[in-house]
Amino acid sequence: MKMAMAAAATSYFSSASASGILLYALFLAGTHGEATEVATSEVPSILPVCKTVGGGSTFFDVQFCLEALGSDDRSANAGTDYRAYSGIAADLLAANATSTAAKIGALLRERGGGGGGGGKGDGGATTRCLRSCQALYGGVVRRQPGCAAAVRGRRDDGEATRCLEEAAGAAEGCEAGFGKSKVASPVAMENDDAFKLAKLAVALLSMAH
Ligand SMILES: *[C@@H]1O[C@H](CO)[C@@H](O)[C@H](O)[C@H]1NC(C)=O
Repeated sequence: MKMAMAAAATSYFSSASASGILLYALFLAGTHGEATEVATSEVPSILPVCKTVGGGSTFFDVQFCLEALGSDDRSANAGTDYRAYSGIAADLLAANATSTAAKIGALLRERGGGGGGGGKGDGGATTRCLRSCQALYGGVVRRQPGCAAAVRGRRDDGEATRCLEEAAGAAEGCEAGFGKSKVASPVAMENDDAFKLAKLAVALLSMAH
């Protein structure tokens, strides 16, 4: 059984690209009992999809797409349905924005919202940036369920795209605030993930018909 699966994977990746090889390695790890269900069960459907949208993107790469879509069980049944994948990416973005907003809230509480500005020698710049991020992510969290519904609704892909681009812009804006204030961003990774997930959802939607 494992041999047959490995053989299938071998032929599947015979046009081996860097990411194909990487996933094939994950696949092999999976046959040795490690936790790579995603790679084994979902690679056949998401690899070509992620190559299509990630190959030419300046915003995210194939690997990011594989990890994002691969993290959601629904990808296993989405076949070549780009709209379904875009909806999944939009849902991942919503989850991401929710947890990022919570992290920002916690960071602000840690710094103490009081009159002191909460600065740690930066004149309160970090706190001000975090407050601006809190507003930006608050907007994303409120709008994101509607974005995902618009993606799935087929009625107005232009509106769905604008909705997702706004989320990308919010993540970008949050990060840029720290840059302008010349203070380290405590949410750099979260901004990067949210930005890429939004751009991934846009790219997947642009391939839907
Ligand atoms: C946010 O998205 C990234 C990229 O898909 C993922 O690795 C991470 O686990 C997500 N975090 C949450 C809390 O959803």
